[in-house]
Amino acid sequence: MYLTKEEEKMLNGDYGWAVSKALKVIVSIGESLNAEKLINISHAHISGVSYGNIGDPGRKLIKEFADSGVKFSVKTTVNPIGYDTIDYDAIPLTKIDRNYLKGQEDILMSLKKMGANLSLSCTPYYLPEVIDIKEGSSVAWGESNAVVYGNSVLGIKTNREGGPISLMAAITGKTYYYGLHIDENRIPSIRYIIRRPDDYELNEVRIGIIGEIISKAHNDERPPYLDEYISNETIIKELSASLGAAGNIAMIVIKGVTKQKIDENKLKETFTIDYKDIKTREDELMPSKTPDIIYFGCPHANKDEIEKIANQLKEFEKINSQIIITTSREQISKVSKETLSILKEKNVKLIGDTCLIVSPFGYRGLNIATNSYKAYFYLSKKGINVSLISINNLKEVLKL
Ligand code: F3S
Repeated sequence: MYLTKEEEKMLNGDYGWAVSKALKVIVSIGESLNAEKLINISHAHISGVSYGNIGDPGRKLIKEFADSGVKFSVKTTVNPIGYDTIDYDAIPLTKIDRNYLKGQEDILMSLKKMGANLSLSCTPYYLPEVIDIKEGSSVAWGESNAVVYGNSVLGIKTNREGGPISLMAAITGKTYYYGLHIDENRIPSIRYIIRRPDDYELNEVRIGIIGEIISKAHNDERPPYLDEYISNETIIKELSASLGAAGNIAMIVIKGVTKQKIDENKLKETFTIDYKDIKTREDELMPSKTPDIIYFGCPHANKDEIEKIANQLKEFEKINSQIIITTSREQISKVSKETLSILKEKNVKLIGDTCLIVSPFGYRGLNIATNSYKAYFYLSKKGINVSLISINNLKEVLKL
């Protein structure tokens, strides 16, 4: 791989062992992928920071870097963890033990010491510092829904990085010139058309199922092209999450959303998704009785979703399900006082900083309904009974 003089100095330890060690990892992966050179990144988003997932080996590695005094060389944000940092007991039916807290706090302290913004959210694309990233810039992001959203909506370039790679990229400010950093690889290969009657609306559950269908059908390294204009950014968020969960897709070109010219000659084939197939899957995943838990916020809920949920709950005297919403502190700060008081009155748990999937929750044997295909995908793998409902159908589900 070609390295500039500056990169050789970094590799040889002129900027300390931490930079050298991090760059060695990036160079060796880049070489194994036959990348011709390294490129600069303008932002990093680190996933894999939950103590429940990375345990003591991960904590030790991050601490070693932090103790060396190295600082991140680009603005860096961080994925959610397994609990709310302001209220440790916010997750219903879940106890966070002292060891877990200590392990997680160490990780967060180390990341902060290196200069991370402890955003603790999987929707970094709502943060002002990310909205300001110039279109066409390369970044190193490690959260799959954010990767798809960043490439497809914001027009920034990132591969789907693993947690350790996004950490090394944050330290060095570099990644390998490979995959979606190369313009040619961003040209879509297969067109997906949705055949549906006008009154069959694409809500977040249906788009999640479409993401599942595309993930299963798409067998090309270049991105899919969705020949359907989607104006609602919350729905695109759920599509990004389902594509990232059900398959390995890191970008989708969406008609009228992704700023990219479509060269019809480069589209190899067209795949039609019939609404009846979406409906069959939707019916299969519908709840048949009142769920024990209704979970929203995977990816983290935005202010509009939170307000929509609260509005639907106003008319209920008593709610028989425990409603949980996970989101970022940044979005909580934007929610109106009225909404917060409705949620409190209805005993809805609005939980910051948290990914329920990586939290040590104890919901085995319970029925959970969610509007997120990604949550459905991961929670079912943990042996939980999961059904899918749109926020629009919340009232109906509460009346089951
Ligand atoms: Fe976010 Fe966790 Fe879902 S990181 S996208 S809430 S699985």
